[in-house]
Amino acid sequence: MSALVLIGPMGAGKTSVGRKLAKRLGLSFTDTDAEIVREHGPIAQIFATHGEPHFRELERQAVCAALSGGGVVALGGGAVTHPDIRDALAAHRVVLLTVEPETIAARLRAASRPVTSRPLLHGDDALARWQEIYQARREMYEAAADATFDTSHGPIQDIVDAVAQWA
Ligand code: S3P
Repeated sequence: MSALVLIGPMGAGKTSVGRKLAKRLGLSFTDTDAEIVREHGPIAQIFATHGEPHFRELERQAVCAALSGGGVVALGGGAVTHPDIRDALAAHRVVLLTVEPETIAARLRAASRPVTSRPLLHGDDALARWQEIYQARREMYEAAADATFDTSHGPIQDIVDAVAQWA
């Protein structure tokens, strides 16, 4: 069963767009970060206690399980760094959500999720760190994507409509 997968950097709107998109298309919605938290506890705690490589392994398992379930699947921003996940994505429809740095600063400040879900941005100068991480992953995002949508401007419903039309 092919899934409609949302990838992209932290704060691009994968979870918000994914949830509405699934509703619009009448499909199930899985957020792989939420699955990891449900099974293993807060992401920041996993990073602090077991390290990032352990989180990436949990993420690999969560993503593979979610993809096999189909529907709309939102991945964490770093999922594309795992070669197994990049390989698995080839069998699915992959949508890259991007966002301009000008927008991301405000969005990260207003994030509805607690900072515990984004330990990589913890501390001062989260924007600089976000940009650095985004640049390092950009080619991986672009290589995995079948379509790209910029979420920087306009209401979220417009993005949802555009992705739904593409899908
Ligand atoms: C991460 C992104 C986060 C979460 C974790 C690591 C990353 O997900 O998986 O904090 O490496 O980019 P979001 O992209 O949903 O914030």
